[in-house]
Amino acid sequence: MQLHSIAENILKTYCENFDGSPIIVRSPGRVNIIGEHTDYNEGFVLPAAIDKATYVAVGKSRNNNCTLISINYNEVFEVSLSAALAPVKDWPTYILGVVDQLIKRGYRLHGFNLVIQGDVPIGAGLSSSASVECATVFALNELFQLHIPALELIDIAQKAEHTFAGVMCGVMDQFISILGKKDHVIKLDCRSMEYEYEPLQLKGIKIVLLNTNVKHSLASTAYNKRRNECSEGVELVKKKMPRINSLRDITPQMLQQYVEPIDKNIYQRCRYVVEENIRLLEACDALKNGDLLSLGQKMYATHDGLSKEYEVSCKELDFLVDHVRSLPQVLGARMMGGGFGGCTINLVKEEFVEELIISTGNVYTQYIGKELTAYIASTEDGASLVHY
Ligand code: GLA
Repeated sequence: MQLHSIAENILKTYCENFDGSPIIVRSPGRVNIIGEHTDYNEGFVLPAAIDKATYVAVGKSRNNNCTLISINYNEVFEVSLSAALAPVKDWPTYILGVVDQLIKRGYRLHGFNLVIQGDVPIGAGLSSSASVECATVFALNELFQLHIPALELIDIAQKAEHTFAGVMCGVMDQFISILGKKDHVIKLDCRSMEYEYEPLQLKGIKIVLLNTNVKHSLASTAYNKRRNECSEGVELVKKKMPRINSLRDITPQMLQQYVEPIDKNIYQRCRYVVEENIRLLEACDALKNGDLLSLGQKMYATHDGLSKEYEVSCKELDFLVDHVRSLPQVLGARMMGGGFGGCTINLVKEEFVEELIISTGNVYTQYIGKELTAYIASTEDGASLVHY
């Protein structure tokens, strides 16, 4: 079997630097069709794993020391497992966060060597960080034969993001990176963690990602702020209705009655989330019925909510969505992921894809002064061992 060029590359680097044959794991990035900023509010999401992924090669070292090599960053990081781990800057923190979680949960590890490389664009809203965490936890689970079930792998990766990267993310990105399935989206209920695979039948339509090339590294603070604003909304309703525990339990009427009179800003944030959950359920029906026009309209509505009510968009994302909105060949578009930069996701008629990429790239550079990068996303399976 032909090895993916990244797998081949990390294998070569591993063998040049360490003894023995490593385990190789790939864990993908994701798109999300609809359902944004709903996951940490116990709502629904509709992501799919894509053909861009992080790859790691890992093997045991002879002692408690770990050597981590990043090919993307051309850096080496050394750490010993004999002392407590702490967050560090940049890429090693995602790996250390996973190791820290494993140790705190009582899993017995010893030193290992790891080479990492990926092609998920960083800071583009495609879950590059989750793919690093998931590749790491999947690989260490195999290497040390820890027998951790999938849902716990997901939880470990998510908590690594909370504790070491400092982003209080929901569960969507890590979930899809581990459990994604080619040609399918997952409809995940982030409250019960029940999920269904739905076939992604797009009949002549491509998923095109347009990258603003605005990296959203600053997003973490505003991201966490939005999360807190949602909790404040829940608290306001809870004062009147003590059994309410999340925005999932809250209707637009409850918000109007108990939140709007007290805090307009919080009301606006919460209304977006409550409406997005309703929109997602309708979008799922549209997808099942092959009604992609209706699905596309819902994506535009999501963008408007994220931009005007939830306020996690930016001028570059708004420009890209506004630019395609009147084109009949583009069925739907919206900003995707945490926001403040990254990509828009567009449903585009196949025969128009090339023209769209060229013409949008030109106007984007003319008006925004930045380069536009485009990817045509295809779906892939979640985390897996790479056999060689
Ligand atoms: C980021 C987070 C996810 C989710 C999205 C917004 O990707 O990691 O948990 O909250 O933003 O939908």
